[in-house]
Amino acid sequence: MGDKIFVTHSLPGVDVKSDLAGYDVEVWPDRDIGREDLLSQVAGSIGIISLLTEKIDAEVMMAAGSQLKVIANYAVGFDNIDVEEASKRGIAVLNTPGTLTESVAEHVIALMLSVARRVVEGDRFVRLGKYHGWEPDLLIGSGVRNKIMGIVGLGRIGTWVARMADGLGMKIVYNSRNRDEEVELELGAEFYTLPELLKIADVISINLPLSEETRGLIGKEEFSLMKKGSILINTARGPIVSEKDLIETLREKRIGGAGLDVFDTEDGINPEFYNLPNVVLTPHIASSTISARIMMARLAINGLKQALSGQIPPNVVNGEVLKHE
Ligand code: GLV
Ligand code: GLV
Repeated sequence: MGDKIFVTHSLPGVDVKSDLAGYDVEVWPDRDIGREDLLSQVAGSIGIISLLTEKIDAEVMMAAGSQLKVIANYAVGFDNIDVEEASKRGIAVLNTPGTLTESVAEHVIALMLSVARRVVEGDRFVRLGKYHGWEPDLLIGSGVRNKIMGIVGLGRIGTWVARMADGLGMKIVYNSRNRDEEVELELGAEFYTLPELLKIADVISINLPLSEETRGLIGKEEFSLMKKGSILINTARGPIVSEKDLIETLREKRIGGAGLDVFDTEDGINPEFYNLPNVVLTPHIASSTISARIMMARLAINGLKQALSGQIPPNVVNGEVLKHE
């Protein structure tokens, strides 16, 4: 028997056991592992493949034992992992950058057009038997050509959103930690401070990781700056936006609408959203294309193997842990 690797959920499109041949691979067979099972099942592992819905903190690391070397998160976001604690314990943390970029960006565009062109409202209307023929004023939406796309966070995903929005004839403005002159040259994108961006954008797409810096970044004050008809798209992490303030803003129709793939918690949704017609809701599926899911799994698995064999994988978040060895 090789060293134990614990995988908290089966992964679509790959065979983890054969991909990690030589290790004693245990895959949790049920849909989602509860906290108690997680704590007991990780015991004795040298590596863990975790999901973004699992909180991987000191307690889990301790429950695994001091032989734990690598935690590979099957996600690009790793706010569910206490990286500082992992680093202290010499545990490498991996994520899956670059594997889901286009997939998530496509979902941003899908949500934007669904809200702007009232696709979901239209679908509901038809299914309710209300469609009786073409009418000049039926479900009038707004087009996106010549509108301003405001991208908050110009990383890989934000940049791909910018390219697609440019292809739709939108003008691109962005706010990011750093200016990106290449994207400015390529797309004529303009850098704005966040308040300025919120004031002029017709569509605002959040493409940032969740961190202490970004938690609650968009709240009451920020909503008050947005244009009346503007559309907010969040495919990043729910807590970047104050959900309470968003619900109030949507209820009072102070913005045009929202497209949301993420919410305050990862285990359900505030039912207040159900009664708001101007929001399109999807269940955290932005990276859910088969190609993205296969690439995510491969990167997690390959990174895990590399880290366990003393190499520094390209997708390590706290590389210093491996360098000091
Ligand atoms: C999905 O939300 C991810 O972070 O990969
Ligand atoms: C994540 O993939 C990002 O950099 O946007």
